[in-house]
Amino acid sequence: EKGGYASFMLKEIAEQPKAVADTLLGRIGVDGALTLDELRIPAAVLKAVDKVVIVACGTAFHAGLIAKYAIEHWTRIPCEVELASEFRYRDPILGGRSLVIAVSQSGETMDTLMALRHAREQGATVLAICNTNGATIPRESDAVLYTHAGPEVAVASTKAFLTQLVACYLVALYLGQVRGTKWGDEIRAVIRDLAAISGEVGRVLETMEPVRELARSLSGKKTVLFLGRHVGYPVALEGALKLKELAYMHAEGFAAGELKHGPIALIEDDLPVVVVVPSPRGRSVLHDKIVSNIQEIRARGARTIVIAEEGDEAVVPYADHLVRIPATPTLLQPLVATVPLQVFACELATARGNEVDQPRNLAKSVTVE
Ligand code: M6R
Repeated sequence: EKGGYASFMLKEIAEQPKAVADTLLGRIGVDGALTLDELRIPAAVLKAVDKVVIVACGTAFHAGLIAKYAIEHWTRIPCEVELASEFRYRDPILGGRSLVIAVSQSGETMDTLMALRHAREQGATVLAICNTNGATIPRESDAVLYTHAGPEVAVASTKAFLTQLVACYLVALYLGQVRGTKWGDEIRAVIRDLAAISGEVGRVLETMEPVRELARSLSGKKTVLFLGRHVGYPVALEGALKLKELAYMHAEGFAAGELKHGPIALIEDDLPVVVVVPSPRGRSVLHDKIVSNIQEIRARGARTIVIAEEGDEAVVPYADHLVRIPATPTLLQPLVATVPLQVFACELATARGNEVDQPRNLAKSVTVE
């Protein structure tokens, strides 16, 4: 069943290029535009949306955090992202023009289900992004966009996360397409890039041996920190979550700009810090700021593990370990940047003798509140 892999997690990590490609299949028309009629939300409703709220838990929440950047950029509709377990307890402001997106691999997460029920009671339109056909969350939603990751067995979410990202990008781009924004040309270009991205995920997977070696060498550490900015910030959170749940280590993700507001006090000699570096193209200001962050933490003794685009030479002098990822449009970078963090956590956990498919205290789907 594991297809020759030592764990379902390794198998599912390896399946990511196919999962990403399958989630795009049939959703990009021959003219290069998106065909998401399957949503069956009338264009008039999509055009009238004045607010998007994403509710989700755990890894799916991280996909939602990334989606916010994409939705606000391409549609200019305000977007909030909230942990489903917090959402309905704070009297959220919703109405008939709100689009609530519930992201859930299993489609059975109770917190997310209760959040979407609450949203529907307030008159919002609810769209589920789900990996499980006919699960409760899509059944109770107004519309559903299925991810086609195939069954995910390992407790730690990997291929489902990448396909949730793809689905979120599709929704963001489709909203932009339907409503028409000044980003029309960019939207068409990004759809083309998205169509090619599964190959890039495959390329990342082929270069993971040094990451595995590094992970094994860090198995005796107590703490690993993760830093990112912009869409790299949720990627850092996801890297930390993977390490917590699999390796049972203290791991934390921070927005790199927050370092000076507190977390930099944690830096000590030989502390491993993983830094997800934004592309030097595009929002280059962020790139330059994060390069300074890497210098700052390294000057204080951190062991820097730098995830940076191919061709980004500015990071080289400050990287104790350098992990290369292919160049992608800024907003799509999480699709390639997350993969090394999954491999890192899986290998480190294995080196510590942990059972990666069934981490202690965790269940694959959390059907209690
Ligand atoms: O099935 P869901 O996507 O609703 O699950 C949400 C979380 O429970 C899930 O992502 C959890 O955080 C994973 N174990 C993370 O790897």
